[in-house]
Amino acid sequence: MTLAEKIGQMNQLNFDQINKDLEEKIKKGEIGSLLNVTNAEEVNQLQQVALQQSRLGIPLIIGRDVIHGLHTIFPIPLGQAASFDDELVKNAAHIAAVESREKGINWTFAPMLDISRDARWGRIAESLGEDPYLAGRLGAAMVRGFQGNKLSDATSIAACLKHFAGYGAAEGGRDYNSTNIPIHLLRNVYLEPFRKSVEAGAATVMTSFNDNDGIPASGNGFLLKQVLRKEWNFDGFVVSDWASMSEMISHGFAADRKEVASLSANAGLDMEMVSQTYIQNLEQLVKEGKVPVQVIDELVKNILRIKIRMGLFENPFAPTGPGKTYSQAHLNAAREAAVKSAVLLKNNNQLLPLDVRKKIAVIGPMADAPHDQMGTWVFDGQKEYTVTPLKALQTEYKHINYVYEQALAFSRDKNKANFEKAVNTAKQADVVVVFLGEESILSGEAHSLSNINLIGVQSDLLAALKATNKPVVLVTMAGRPLTIERDLPNADAVLYNFHPGTMGGPAIWDLLFGKANPSGKLPVTFVREVGQIPMYYNHNNTGRPGPKNPMKLDDIPLEAKQSSLGNSSFYLDSGRDPLFPFGYGLSYSSFEYKDLKLSATKIKPGEKMKVSATLTNTGKYEGTEIAQLYVRDMVGSIARPVKELKGYQKISLKPGETKLVTFELSSDDLAFYGLDLVKKAENGMFNVWVGGSSDSGLKGSFSLEQ
Ligand code: GLC
Repeated sequence: MTLAEKIGQMNQLNFDQINKDLEEKIKKGEIGSLLNVTNAEEVNQLQQVALQQSRLGIPLIIGRDVIHGLHTIFPIPLGQAASFDDELVKNAAHIAAVESREKGINWTFAPMLDISRDARWGRIAESLGEDPYLAGRLGAAMVRGFQGNKLSDATSIAACLKHFAGYGAAEGGRDYNSTNIPIHLLRNVYLEPFRKSVEAGAATVMTSFNDNDGIPASGNGFLLKQVLRKEWNFDGFVVSDWASMSEMISHGFAADRKEVASLSANAGLDMEMVSQTYIQNLEQLVKEGKVPVQVIDELVKNILRIKIRMGLFENPFAPTGPGKTYSQAHLNAAREAAVKSAVLLKNNNQLLPLDVRKKIAVIGPMADAPHDQMGTWVFDGQKEYTVTPLKALQTEYKHINYVYEQALAFSRDKNKANFEKAVNTAKQADVVVVFLGEESILSGEAHSLSNINLIGVQSDLLAALKATNKPVVLVTMAGRPLTIERDLPNADAVLYNFHPGTMGGPAIWDLLFGKANPSGKLPVTFVREVGQIPMYYNHNNTGRPGPKNPMKLDDIPLEAKQSSLGNSSFYLDSGRDPLFPFGYGLSYSSFEYKDLKLSATKIKPGEKMKVSATLTNTGKYEGTEIAQLYVRDMVGSIARPVKELKGYQKISLKPGETKLVTFELSSDDLAFYGLDLVKKAENGMFNVWVGGSSDSGLKGSFSLEQ
């Protein structure tokens, strides 16, 4: 390869149309990858040019953001995370890969593994939530789903772990903002899902927009060489995010485009997404000795290694003939995913499941929102295929006796003119089901909010409907955990959906009418007020942990003398605790954990122990419980979180049935980066819990001793 051809492989352009200029660049070997080609015929035409008209005949790698489905749209990743279901998430990714390959797309920019502890950040929607263990397991499952058994399989696409790293800690929850993650937190929390997904064999990684501690990821040699290559032995390739390289000028980290190319190449960034500093400067930088040719060789080898592993040299073409896009099997899988991604937050007096003989008032802007129901990061999902709750009532659920009033045209709509109609509609029914939430554009990239209440006048609509004294079910479709504390008194039951995708409509009725029993658990904390953010379950204890029941603001006496009220960490107005904690979710059943047993009260490094409990379905419906295992390292060389998720499993039980739930815990599971930044488990006492949420469970303790 000439130096120019090597550099050409490192250059990725965005596709808008096939033209002479693009074909010329491919012929000259100036392009290694294109993103956003979505037409199979165009892909095949471009691959033909690359294979037959360029000197070396190196095929293109074609990328696209296939985040939660290409055409058949699954719940947004935050919703899929609520399923705590590795197999379900893997299958969703596999189906996305099948539909992608039919269009000639062989690389997706997913899974997004950014730990997200801030619901103001719009990209929490794409994340797998706040916990590194959950995000690690589900991220690895997505990699396996996208990549199949072999990268060269006909239905495999290369995965891309993003955004490396720490992007979810954007200050203030404002997208693209700086992050200030100290090294222990970086290693113990933010890097962990990436490590697990590299271990699962991910082919590529994408650098993030943020500067962490002043260093933009696209120029961060510590992340790209020390962590990714030396420690994790990653042998795939790294692509920058969209212009994240040239944005290092805006960061004030590079003086000009030439320095951008030098910084990124020397930091170990293999492929440049769209900003073209490599193709325009690297040859000169090599001549000037600022970038050794050996560096270029390493970067190109990483890219070619993946192209070879993907089998692109043998077959880079989109298949012809009928595909499986929108097949019934795909739609059924999307429906199952939506069922298992919903979280039941409230169900007073067992209002749910509803009796199918009841007359139902269906109200609200999200009851028939085929575009918005799919959620953010949907380029190719066609809203004509979306089955909304209303559409489901007009088709599969047409036996249900219902009346419908949209009331608001969209979630931001502030026009109350139809409230009276909505109230009158509610009065005609036995029960009111209100569909509220967010339009899809209100979450996702660059869509941060400083107020995360139900937007517009949706809360007023809910209150007006509750005033009819009819039983009210609130069903949400949102891209984030909204602050719904003020809405709870106006809903007897709450079924929370993170944008449920193409088949969200029938899935919601399956749940509301009891054909399915809710099993989802929250992958992210629901705060009471946006002012509580950041609030997450796996926090440190602090020297003055807040009290369970702190004083009430209005209980503070007038002219109270100067004092440190409460002397501990809480808010005078919203206390210490969230509205709903990580891991929380109700069922139509009830589950009882009993008889916690530890196979040992003391283990040595390298040893394992078993933690078990019995789990009984004490309710009258068959149901599935997501049993969770948490530990707390009581004393460490650095302060340790009050709880850390170390296991979960889904247990299905018939009414009255009891099963033994057993987790295996090894000393490796207790390892963390301590004061000396060496990853190891430290001796001492540990607490352990088995339960159905991060704020409950049977508690035991054990020690780790040399
Ligand atoms: C965007 C996103 C990234 C996406 C890329 C390509 O800016 O940050 O997640 O994969 O550009 O669309």
